[in-house]
Amino acid sequence: MQNKKTVVLGISGGIAAFKAAQLTSNLIKKGYDVEVIMTEHATEFIAPLTFESLTKHNVMVSTFERVADRSVKHISLAKRADVFVVVPATANVIAKFAYGLADDMLTTTFLAAACPKIICPAMNTGMYENPVTQHNLELLKKYGMEIVEPDNGFLACGDIGKGKLAELALIEDAIEMALYPDKPLRGKKVIISAGPTQEAIDPVRFISNHSSGKMGIALAWCAKALGAEVTLIHGNIHEHIPYGVETQAITSAQEMFKAFQAQSTDADIIIKAAAVGDYRACDVAEHKIKKKESSFTLALTKNPDILQWLGEHKQAHQVLCGFAMETEHLLENAEKKRVEKHCDLLIANDLKAAGAGFGVDTNVVTILSDGGSIQYPCMSKREVAFTVWQRIIAILKQKGESLC
Ligand code: CTP
Repeated sequence: MQNKKTVVLGISGGIAAFKAAQLTSNLIKKGYDVEVIMTEHATEFIAPLTFESLTKHNVMVSTFERVADRSVKHISLAKRADVFVVVPATANVIAKFAYGLADDMLTTTFLAAACPKIICPAMNTGMYENPVTQHNLELLKKYGMEIVEPDNGFLACGDIGKGKLAELALIEDAIEMALYPDKPLRGKKVIISAGPTQEAIDPVRFISNHSSGKMGIALAWCAKALGAEVTLIHGNIHEHIPYGVETQAITSAQEMFKAFQAQSTDADIIIKAAAVGDYRACDVAEHKIKKKESSFTLALTKNPDILQWLGEHKQAHQVLCGFAMETEHLLENAEKKRVEKHCDLLIANDLKAAGAGFGVDTNVVTILSDGGSIQYPCMSKREVAFTVWQRIIAILKQKGESLC
């Protein structure tokens, strides 16, 4: 219990306050200790009892409540907070935060807290776009706070525009990423590829594979949590894209190749986790191919090997990391790929190992480098991703890079 991270959740008085209940429940299920502070106005939208039932803590509204050890509650909570998130943050509370006003429990605790702070605005479009609110948000960014931008959508006032509370999954990402205080990849540009490519045969069909993109997405999540600027070049995937990750969607291997050719020069670290189709149809039929004979032969031509090209064009400061998915002779095949494609690291996974493979949340990998190979036990894809990043950070240090 003592090792639990404490998330202080501030709730101000907007209609999106009801969404804070779902967020609280999600955070509790993930094992966080959640302490809720509400403004008086927030209690008009949703009852404190909802949060007390979920968190098993009293919800604080007034500045004059005290805890058993007689310490002033807003100070004790501010000291205990590992992260402070405000959901929803109204224009009013944002203005108070920006100017250090402290006239209730939420604003006083917020001012006293030194932990990472995340503001999730939700309000009417006019209020959000008002230069005063924008200026206040800029001030908060300058003070180092994270602003999780609201979405465009249908608002409670009936307007359609920007001001809808960001998706909870993105807010949860921002919270969990903030819980990594070290940002060794700050200032580094990272490009990660994920998911399958699709090679068209005719307007109806394509050749593809079972890749879900989960491994590449886990790598992007961790890179962002460690402070990097991340671009995900991805094929057709249905997974949640992590908070703060730039994306470029592609369909075919040739499109992915073009995307890398355009962007790779600027990158410090490139990870090729995508399952790229090795071949494409020589000719893509203009109309649907009709069935005729009992057998059918499709002529295929080889796609460019993107990782090979990246290896051949690698700059001195760049770290290149490839993947190898094998069903036999894992180490032998993976080592051949590592050398031929000039990779600093090659992550090999055996499709047949229990806990590895397409679409699952775990992986079993062996990481190969010029120093040899290390086999890791079955881990969650996020744990695998952190392991890969630790290895990359070690390489950056060997190259003499000064990391934050
Ligand atoms: N790769 C690539 N471009 C291709 C094929 C593969 O960039 N046209 C990359 C993958 O993203 C991965 C690595 O090369 O990082 C290895 O991919 P894999 O499919 O395991 O092997 P291949 O190189 O395609 O070789 P083979 O199909 O013979 O196993």
